[in-house]
Amino acid sequence: MIISIKPWLEMAESMNQGQGKRGVSDGGVALSRDYELEALRLESELRRERNEQPLHFETMSRMDFYHKPVMGQEILHALRPVSGRQVFDGTLGGGGHSEMLLQKGAHVIGCDQDDDALSYASRRLEKFGDCFLPVKGNFARVDSILKDLGIDGVDGMLMDLGVSSHQLDEAARGFSFRADGPLDMRMDQGSDLSAKVIVNEWSQEELADLIWKYGEERKSRQVASAIVKAREESVIETTFQLVEIVSRVIPRVGRKNPATRVFQALRIAVNRELEVLEEGLKNAVEALSEGGVLAVITFHSLEDRIVKHFMRNASAPFLDRPEWPEPRPNPDYCLRLPNRKAIVPSEEEVHTNPRARSAKLRVAVKR
Ligand SMILES: C[S@@+](CC[C@H](N)C(=O)[O-])C[C@H]1O[C@@H](n2cnc3c(N)ncnc32)[C@H](O)[C@@H]1O
Repeated sequence: MIISIKPWLEMAESMNQGQGKRGVSDGGVALSRDYELEALRLESELRRERNEQPLHFETMSRMDFYHKPVMGQEILHALRPVSGRQVFDGTLGGGGHSEMLLQKGAHVIGCDQDDDALSYASRRLEKFGDCFLPVKGNFARVDSILKDLGIDGVDGMLMDLGVSSHQLDEAARGFSFRADGPLDMRMDQGSDLSAKVIVNEWSQEELADLIWKYGEERKSRQVASAIVKAREESVIETTFQLVEIVSRVIPRVGRKNPATRVFQALRIAVNRELEVLEEGLKNAVEALSEGGVLAVITFHSLEDRIVKHFMRNASAPFLDRPEWPEPRPNPDYCLRLPNRKAIVPSEEEVHTNPRARSAKLRVAVKR
């Protein structure tokens, strides 16, 4: 479901006409609209950080809020979006990064597998006219998406991995353990595999492996056993049912919800996030023109490991193994790394956007 911001904007605009730059808050107290929206954004991020209930939907719907882009300045620096450069944003989301690139004069192809993201961002970015082209798809297939559009190569490619704040906040999408909703977690609403299918149909062993591999949850076997026992009684339909089952096995320590790792594991499996990332990285390099830049933002170690290894392997001119008499040329050598280490957000950004805390940006240039 798309958040409708129009009534709020219209109301704010009509208030602005009478009051210069001022809007109104809930209680009718005059506030600058920018300040009010920023305060709501911050409140929303802090609530998520503290494991509290998200803001009420009506309040959310009054915000022009979908997702606050992470490491925006670093992305601009990496992708150098000057006029005429063409960038493929593989994770369009709310269009925050795309907007920054468009404002600098780049042409952007904005790709997302989520219909909500596409319609929200398309509306937000329609002011850029032909410079912005939204496409539905999975960035894993960037090569065929560009081929279908008749584009030979792009100058930049961005992947800002994971889910958007909107996807997390929207209970009906079933991504969050903080709001009750159907066990869904599909980024692509047209896909067949949902969290409900995995939780109710996969074997105990498959569940345990998944929770261990993608959630790095030490009690994976006990959680899998509790799930199988519970589903013998009745089908597990909702996020809160699953949280309750996991909480029987993993006690809450501090603020962290005991189901955090289980939810991460399910989300990764439902969307095949790690396989898709590997495929996307390979195809991204194919899709870049010479000198084109690949920028990837990750949010957990499983993703970052894949990106780090991929970039390291593709930037080594020679390969060496103990059993070889001498190093051999690397057939996959196609990248140059401007920074050896991952770039992390500034303290200031982490302070104002808690979601940035675990972000890591890796950049590579096609040779
Ligand atoms: C973290 S958000 C991106 C936010 C965006 N950079 C912004 O500034 O608003 C990730 C978005 O990428 C999408 N996404 C994740 N993996 C994808 C994939 N493999 N292919 C296409 N879209 C993907 C999600 O649906 C989500 O909307």
